[in-house]
Amino acid sequence: MDYFQYKNNRLFCEDVSLDQIAETHGTPSYVYSKKTLERHAKAYLDSFSSENNLVCFSVKSCSNIAILEILKKAGCGFDIVSGGELKRALSIGADPSKIIFSGVGKSKGEIEYAIKNKILSFNIESGSELTRIEGIAKKLGIKASVSIRFNPEVDSGGHDYITTGRKGDKFGISSLNEVMQLVGHIRDSENLMMVGLACHIGSQILNLDSYKAAALKTIELADQVNNLGVKLEFLDMGGGLGVPYNNEVPPNPRELVEVLESVMKERKEVIVLEPGRTISANAGVLLTSVEYLKDDFLIVDAGMNDLLRPSLYGADHDVWNTNNNIKKSKNWNIVGPVCESSDFIRKDIFLSANEGDVLAVRTAGAYGFVMSSNYNSRPRGAEILVDGDKAHVIRSRETLEDLIALERLPND
Ligand code: LLP
Repeated sequence: MDYFQYKNNRLFCEDVSLDQIAETHGTPSYVYSKKTLERHAKAYLDSFSSENNLVCFSVKSCSNIAILEILKKAGCGFDIVSGGELKRALSIGADPSKIIFSGVGKSKGEIEYAIKNKILSFNIESGSELTRIEGIAKKLGIKASVSIRFNPEVDSGGHDYITTGRKGDKFGISSLNEVMQLVGHIRDSENLMMVGLACHIGSQILNLDSYKAAALKTIELADQVNNLGVKLEFLDMGGGLGVPYNNEVPPNPRELVEVLESVMKERKEVIVLEPGRTISANAGVLLTSVEYLKDDFLIVDAGMNDLLRPSLYGADHDVWNTNNNIKKSKNWNIVGPVCESSDFIRKDIFLSANEGDVLAVRTAGAYGFVMSSNYNSRPRGAEILVDGDKAHVIRSRETLEDLIALERLPND
């Protein structure tokens, strides 16, 4: 459920008309609904039957600091994958004891930055990373908290590029023998403390069976870890629940939590989740204006540099005209101005549209702006947050000057 609705044939975000936003702030622009973000965060937080839980919003899905602040106030912690994401979370006063650092390639600088800020845990993804973290913690004279991200070998379905829980995917540690060796090492280390086990099986997951399978494997492994004399604080089941882009009917957060709680009902550990898409996707749209009509093409002012998902994954985002009063409809291929044949926003969609109309590309709040680029030297669009009847610019549209601001001629 989200707060993008037609009122008198005009599309609104909460109490602000999207036409109005396009007129005032221009297009392409990402527009987010504060109420929707809060509602989605609450859907997770209220689903747990005990206090024993932590919901870490996955910053990579939508990382504007104004969005993070809303989710922090709602009660979320954060799942981060870089020093940049840590900077964002800390900049809005996030509690470091609710921050989890995942990712296969953490650099020395990133590890040091996170240790110094006393984050809850590093989800370590290899033996080499463990050695590196231990070395840095030793140099700093402290104990770093770590969890092991193991690979439960569950195929969660979905696009190959976003499935992560299988043997052969680059994420997590696949060999359970190796996991147990590392656990023994951590237990005996003066500079490491093992606080959890983690897994993340993929993204845009549409059924709960794979979560259940992963949870069962996690508790089995947790028992083995306990047998080595290590007491765990949490079991982190990652993110990955899907959203309806078109006609999909994914389970809701409550159903996910019910499955996890039923598998883990005898456990003392805190259940951690790292949702991204389910919180941010339907809370955002990409506003774009129709520049030209040509044959079956609607040529719009947003391209693959603004929203990469259709080109990269063949993702089908629904597209609505902000003016619902246009009668003549046909099937269109909505394409952008970028010089690539793969530059499309949506293929073969039945829609009414005229030159100058403003379209809203739905479900674009997750992996939308964050994956945008300056390809074709196109400035990134603005990000706008709607709160009731107010629209706030939370990231200014980039200018042509911004595009070359960091560049230098060799002789300067
Ligand atoms: N935790 C970890 C360790 C992750 O790798 C991810 C996403 C999440 C949590 C959040 O997953 P979510 O709840 O958002 O599915 N760019 C792709 C999605 C990549 C997901 C990467 N990892 C897309 O646009 O579909």
